[in-house]
Amino acid sequence: MKIPRLTTKDLLSITDLSRDEILQLFRLAARLKADLKMGRNHDLLKKKSLAMIFEKSSTRTRVSFETGVTQLGGHALFLSGNDIQIGRGETIQDTAKVLSRYVDCIMIRTFAQQTVVDLAENSRIPVINGLTDLFHPCQALADFFTVYERGDDLGSIKFTYIGDGNNVANSLIQCAAILGMRMTVLGPSEFKPPSDIVNEAMRLAGESGAEIVISSDIDKDLAGTDYLYTDVWISMGQENDPTVQQKKALLSPYKITMPLLQKCGNGCQVMHCLPAHRGEEIDDSVLDSERSIVYEQAENRMHIQKAIMCALMR
Ligand code: CP
Ligand code: NVA
Repeated sequence: MKIPRLTTKDLLSITDLSRDEILQLFRLAARLKADLKMGRNHDLLKKKSLAMIFEKSSTRTRVSFETGVTQLGGHALFLSGNDIQIGRGETIQDTAKVLSRYVDCIMIRTFAQQTVVDLAENSRIPVINGLTDLFHPCQALADFFTVYERGDDLGSIKFTYIGDGNNVANSLIQCAAILGMRMTVLGPSEFKPPSDIVNEAMRLAGESGAEIVISSDIDKDLAGTDYLYTDVWISMGQENDPTVQQKKALLSPYKITMPLLQKCGNGCQVMHCLPAHRGEEIDDSVLDSERSIVYEQAENRMHIQKAIMCALMR
């Protein structure tokens, strides 16, 4: 089994990885997935321990990481932010130094990206970002692995993200830029991805040959889409913002409905990282249709994360 040798200690954002490293992770994930389906498991993480810190809710991330590490012969510890001493004010630096003496890897889901950076800087062991307000790298890798394993040429398909320019969008943009893909982001100008993320993606696109388009014009820029992706309009931690209703009103033209999907290319596939707010950013009739590959994406979280953990803990 060829385990990628990564130059990074941690996975804090997609920009920690090169194009070649991402493709190596895809190949390993595909092999692990195929072997699992044949009933073959590999003890690649035998006796390794993964600490999983969650300061926000999770279904997929928690279960896919825990199951993934267990399948590889290791063990996961679920640490709710409220139950460990972080919740009572222990610093992230002290947490990093102590956990480094017990476990082999830390996965964290939290609010500020800086928390993940501080955790990694103070840890002797790899740190994996399991979602922050800014990024969701494991999700973007699972998503493009889903496209890759369908046999599509990543350089020629048109991938469109529609809706809120959020953490998931940011990681998808970075990944598309590094992989040399054609990606369009469609949404109201008020909720575009942050300009520093877009500028950096444009710079990476200059190196890879990617084409990144940021637009508000559905009629002009949806045509020819092969994969249409959306995420919730109100992310975790934003529920009590006073502008929630205004945000939803501005995003409403960007909801994925059957008529909107018909403006895309023939056979366009629909993607969503889940959980979905059914009836808000996407209609049930689309999410439950044969065009939807959302459960493949969710499954692939586990396969790609197994590959990521093997590479970081090799
Ligand atoms: N997509 C995703 O990260 O799902 P969870 O919030 O359930 O982990
Ligand atoms: N943008 C969403 C993704 C959830 C997986 C959030 O941050 O809540």
